[in-house]
Amino acid sequence: MGNHQNNEGSKELYRKEYLLNEDQQLIIRIPEPGDAQGLINQMQTVDGETKFLARESDEFNFTVEQEREFIKNCTNDENIRFLIAELDGRIIANCSVGLIQNKKRYLHRAAMGIAVMKDYWNKGIGKKMMQECINWCKEKGVEQLELEVVAQNNRAVSMYKSLGFEIYGTKKHALKYGDGTYADEYYMILFLNSKKPE
Ligand SMILES: CC(C)(COP(=O)(O)OP(=O)(O)OC[C@H]1O[C@@H](n2cnc3c(N)ncnc32)[C@H](O)[C@@H]1OP(=O)(O)O)[C@@H](O)C(=O)NCCC(=O)NCCS
Repeated sequence: MGNHQNNEGSKELYRKEYLLNEDQQLIIRIPEPGDAQGLINQMQTVDGETKFLARESDEFNFTVEQEREFIKNCTNDENIRFLIAELDGRIIANCSVGLIQNKKRYLHRAAMGIAVMKDYWNKGIGKKMMQECINWCKEKGVEQLELEVVAQNNRAVSMYKSLGFEIYGTKKHALKYGDGTYADEYYMILFLNSKKPE
C-alpha cells in the first residue's frame, strides 16, 4: 500500500488514503456521525464472522442515534483515537485506542481494539490501522499500549508480535461460548516511550 495523502495535523482533519491492490482506494479516517449506520453494519458483520471478539453476533444492538452519540463522544475526546477504514464507500474496519482514564496512576497506559471484516483480512489493513494508533500513542506520550487477544487468534497474535507487542500473561477461560467451551486470552503489551521493565 502506498501512502497517497497525509492531512494529519488536527484530529478533525485526520484522513489518509492508500492504494490497495493497485486499483482500490482505502481511506483511513475519523468517523463522523453520518457513519453511524455503516459502523453498525460493520461491527455486526464482524461479530458474526469470528469467535475471537467478546460479543456474540446478536449482542451489538445500538440504534443509529446511539451510535451517532457514541461517535460524537469519541471524536470529541482528545484521549481517544477512533478510526475507520473505508473501501469503495463501505466501512470495512474500525480500530480504537484510548488512555486508561479512570485513575491518575493509569494515565501512562492505553488500551486498544480492532476489527476488520473477513473479506478484507490479510491485505495489510489491520496492521496499517494499528500503526496509526501506535503513532497516536507516541504523540500522546503513552508509555505502554495494552490489549487482550484470544490465545487461538493466530492472525491477530502474529500481527501484534510483528508490531513489537509481547505476551506477558494469560487470562484462563476468559471467554465461554454458547457450546460450553472456553477460550483463554493473552495479555499483550507494547512499550513505547518508557524503558522496558526488567
Ligand atoms: C486480527 C485482524 C485485525 C487482522 O487484520 P488484517 O487486516 O487481516 O491484518 P493484516 O493483513 O494487516 O496482517 C495480518 C497478519 O497475520 C498474518 N497471518 C495471516 N494469516 C495467518 C494465520 N493463519 N496464522 C498466523 N498469522 C497469519 C499475516 O502474515 C500478517 O502478519 P505480518 O504483518 O507479520 O505479515 C483481523 O483478522 C480481524 O479483524 N479479525 C477479527 C477480529 C479480531 O480478531 N480482532 C482482534 C481482536 S484482539
